[in-house]
Amino acid sequence: MRDSIVSRIEFATALANEAGALAQDYYRSLGELTAQSKGPQDAVSEADREVEAMIRAALMKNFPNDAFVGEESGSSVAGKDDPIWVVDPIDGTQCFLSAIPSWCVSIGLIVDGRIVGGVIRDPNADETFVGMLGKDARCNGRVMRPRDVTDFTDGLTEVGWSPRIPAAPTARLIENLLERGGIYRRSGSGALGLAYVADGRYLGYFEGHMNVWDSCAGAALVSAAGGWVNDILADKGLEQGSLVAASGAPLAAGLRALAGEVGYVL
Ligand code: IPD
Ligand code: CA
Repeated sequence: MRDSIVSRIEFATALANEAGALAQDYYRSLGELTAQSKGPQDAVSEADREVEAMIRAALMKNFPNDAFVGEESGSSVAGKDDPIWVVDPIDGTQCFLSAIPSWCVSIGLIVDGRIVGGVIRDPNADETFVGMLGKDARCNGRVMRPRDVTDFTDGLTEVGWSPRIPAAPTARLIENLLERGGIYRRSGSGALGLAYVADGRYLGYFEGHMNVWDSCAGAALVSAAGGWVNDILADKGLEQGSLVAASGAPLAAGLRALAGEVGYVL
């Protein structure tokens, strides 16, 4: 299975680069796109649908027995539970549609109930983040390492939020982070935020609920880079999403404490 994970992630890397180029073609002609609402702060356009269709078709052609979970086209997990591709064609859709270059393509891989690899492509920055179990995580070929700090005063922490959960605990968490001397940022792409944790750009990432397509590839990057991330597949995380917390290993206790203070148990 090890070889097949490597070959799958290599394939996914080329595919994410191609998908990123397709997404960027749409981004360059944003004025021609119309978006539909799937709910509060949750839009979708032809760009999301077409990029996911392109990724899904390529994966199913090359790995016809694999399962697929995607943000826009749903899941084909029933009856064939392994390996599972977990895809967000455009993470940061609201930024994408608002002409803010903070979005990415995200492709994760689960084998035997475990996240084993992930690729995130940011075409605006021309960066491809790749990680898999047992190998160095890399950004454009350069080895990534999370930050080696124990408190929040040494850099930025991203805190995400969506209307899927109540606002108050996240607002309190941000307040407590600021009181510890931290700085919070919200880029609008949780997947990219996790890639930045893997690469030591952010100290950590926290969000009370993310869907698995937003978090799977990023979690793979953080783990492969040697950082800490909670078990996002626990308690039906694949089906229902989960809380997501990630940081360099020395800050894990601090992040857990921050979450615990507002009632999130990790
Ligand atoms: C969203 C982004 C955002 C996160 C939300 C996600 P989308 O995904 O990752 O940063 O805070 O939880 O739903 O809608 O842009 O694919
Ligand atoms: Ca998305």
